[in-house]
Amino acid sequence: MPAQPDLGFPHRFEPATTQGAPCVLLLHGTGGDETSLVPLGKAIAPGAALLSPRGKVLEQGLARFFRRRTEGEFDQVDLETRTKELAAFVNEASAAYSIPAGKLVAAGFSNGANIASSLILRFPEALAGALLMRGMVPFVPQQAVDLKRRPVLLLSGVDDPIVGTDEVEELADIFRAANAEVTLHWETAGHTLSQGDVLMAFDWMRKFFYAPRAAKPK
Ligand code: MLT
Repeated sequence: MPAQPDLGFPHRFEPATTQGAPCVLLLHGTGGDETSLVPLGKAIAPGAALLSPRGKVLEQGLARFFRRRTEGEFDQVDLETRTKELAAFVNEASAAYSIPAGKLVAAGFSNGANIASSLILRFPEALAGALLMRGMVPFVPQQAVDLKRRPVLLLSGVDDPIVGTDEVEELADIFRAANAEVTLHWETAGHTLSQGDVLMAFDWMRKFFYAPRAAKPK
C-alpha cells in the first residue's frame, strides 16, 4: 500500500472498488486501532471506500477517541476537543482522498460510536449518516440540531452490560429530536456484535447509501 499522508490521525484508507458505493468512516472501540473494523466495513459495505483513523487517547495503553473519567463518565472538554480534531481530519481526508461531499457515513463501535454521535451532532455537515453500534449518549445537545433526515442506525444489545436500555432510548430520542431518520434495532446480544448486527448494518447501508444492489454477506 502506498504511503498515506499524515492528516492528524494515524489512519488507513482504502479506495472504493465499486462505483456508487459510499465511503465509510470506521471508528473503533477502546483498545482497537485503524485495522480493527476493516473486515466489518468490507462485510457491511462491499466495494465502499474505507477511512479508518486510530484514536489518539491512550488509556492504560489502549487507544480511544476521547478521555473518560470512569466507564460511561466522559471528560466533556476532551470530547469536544477530540471531536473538533476528528472533524478537521474528515475535512482534510475528504480533500486528500477525493471523497465526494455527502458520501461519508460513519460506522462506530462502542467508544467509536460515541465519538461518531458527537461528530454528527456537532458537525452535521461532516457526515451523510451514522451507524452507531452499542453507542451511549455522548452529551445532551443544549441547542437545536438539524440533521435534515440523515439516516442514523442504532444497533444495541438487550443484554449489554455497559449500555443500559434507557440510555439507548435517550440516544434515539436525541436523534429523533434532531430530525434524523432513526432506526433502532435491538439485538439479542451483549456489548459484542453478533451476525444479526452485521446483517442489519448491511441492509441499512444498502437501503440508504448505495445506488445499485450489492450481494448479501455470507
Ligand atoms: C466509552 O468510554 O466510550 C464507553 O464506555 C464505551 C467503551 O469504550 O467502553
